[in-house]
Amino acid sequence: KKIAVLISGSGTNLQVIIDAILQKKLNAEIKIVISNNKDAYGLVRAEKQGIKNMFISTRDLTCEEYSEKLLEIFNKEEIDFVVLAGFLKILSKDLVMQYKNRIINIHPSLIPSFCGKGYYGIKVHEKAIEYGVKVTGATVHFVDENADTGPIIEQRAVDVDDFDTAKSLQQKVLVIEHEILVSSLKKLCNDELKVIGRRVIKKGDKD
Ligand code: GRF
Repeated sequence: KKIAVLISGSGTNLQVIIDAILQKKLNAEIKIVISNNKDAYGLVRAEKQGIKNMFISTRDLTCEEYSEKLLEIFNKEEIDFVVLAGFLKILSKDLVMQYKNRIINIHPSLIPSFCGKGYYGIKVHEKAIEYGVKVTGATVHFVDENADTGPIIEQRAVDVDDFDTAKSLQQKVLVIEHEILVSSLKKLCNDELKVIGRRVIKKGDKD
């Protein structure tokens, strides 16, 4: 399967996908890595791996115009699935519709907690610490036209210890993100997922 990975930052989630493919754990090919941030270290990770990568600025572009550029590239590269790996932009309704249930996102909380507009990066963990939750975690979900609201594919929890800070929590959750992103992508590439309403179930299971 041909995948496109969209990033905005360090690209540790991109890296685990690269590694999983190299270790033959994932039957997919990353055709392109696109970043809306020219300084994203994830672009360096792609370059090192000989993966086609590009910076596309969002400046002077509406959400629709940016998504249109993405769609052109996805069609040219015959992309099957899109992974938002720390990508901090909303995609247009049109793109989401054309790629319905073929775009996945990794979010560093147990959705529907601590998600949506303004909840990204370390902020998510600061809010979790501040709220005093005892467990948090990560979520992989299909992307729909809003932020972090699509059908959930996989979640995994971690304990929040008394001594945890937002930083230490972020590190714990990042490990979980990497695990569930690869396992979700594997199910997607092996066509093992079925979406019924908001529920994502494994094919072959009784509905
Ligand atoms: C991290 O905050 C992660 O939780 C979220 O995006 C951010 C960057 O991740 N998914 P990455 O290291 O760039 O993959």
